[in-house]
Amino acid sequence: MDTYKAICSRRTIRLYQPKEISSDLMERILNAGRLAPSGANRQPLEFIVVKDEENRAKLFEQLAWAAYVQPRRNPPEGNRPMAYVIVLIKGRGEGLAVADGAAAIENMILTAWNEGVGSCWIGSVNRDNVKRIFNIPDEYTVYDVLALGYPAEQPVMEEMKDSHKYWLDENNVLHVPKRRLSEIVHYEKF
Ligand SMILES: Cc1cc2nc3c(=O)[nH]c(=O)nc-3n(C[C@H](O)[C@H](O)[C@H](O)COP(=O)(O)O)c2cc1C
Repeated sequence: MDTYKAICSRRTIRLYQPKEISSDLMERILNAGRLAPSGANRQPLEFIVVKDEENRAKLFEQLAWAAYVQPRRNPPEGNRPMAYVIVLIKGRGEGLAVADGAAAIENMILTAWNEGVGSCWIGSVNRDNVKRIFNIPDEYTVYDVLALGYPAEQPVMEEMKDSHKYWLDENNVLHVPKRRLSEIVHYEKF
């Protein structure tokens, strides 16, 4: 898949198949995170990979899913993520480091999607609990969490009309409104 096609076809996935992600692919996903742009090239990010079933269950409890359609897109057992990447910032999670975290997550999302693996970027994280459960030292900040797995849903994108809120139709298909390009691009002047 070329990059533009991957970007245009990607959607956040919150229902997953119970199919393992190979170690090879996980390594490529992580490497894509490692190689993301970094402000002043400081590279403050580190990653915790969570694949073990018990650890996945513990992490799942610390995350919140799809606020606008709560609780209908909470992944049920059997459709939960098969792996997670906890993205850590060494030091305080502010300034350039936050942008680094976002760039790394997007690189990982696109690398996964290119291989057929869906993902959900999760910012609603109980960070204190995650720090405790996963033995994360004090000098690290939990940035966000990336959930990964082969898709068991096919969300659709649509032109945004009056609301930015994604919604579920009667067939349990998630619709994701996006603003039109002509609405957000200004040429030469605002
Ligand atoms: C910074 C950030 C935080 C997010 N946090 C959550 C989250 O906590 N839970 C969740 O279900 N989705 C989360 N998402 C996914 C967004 O809801 C999703 O990207 C948005 O609805 C647009 O859908 P799309 O990714 O398919 O384009 C987050 C996305 C971003 C960029």
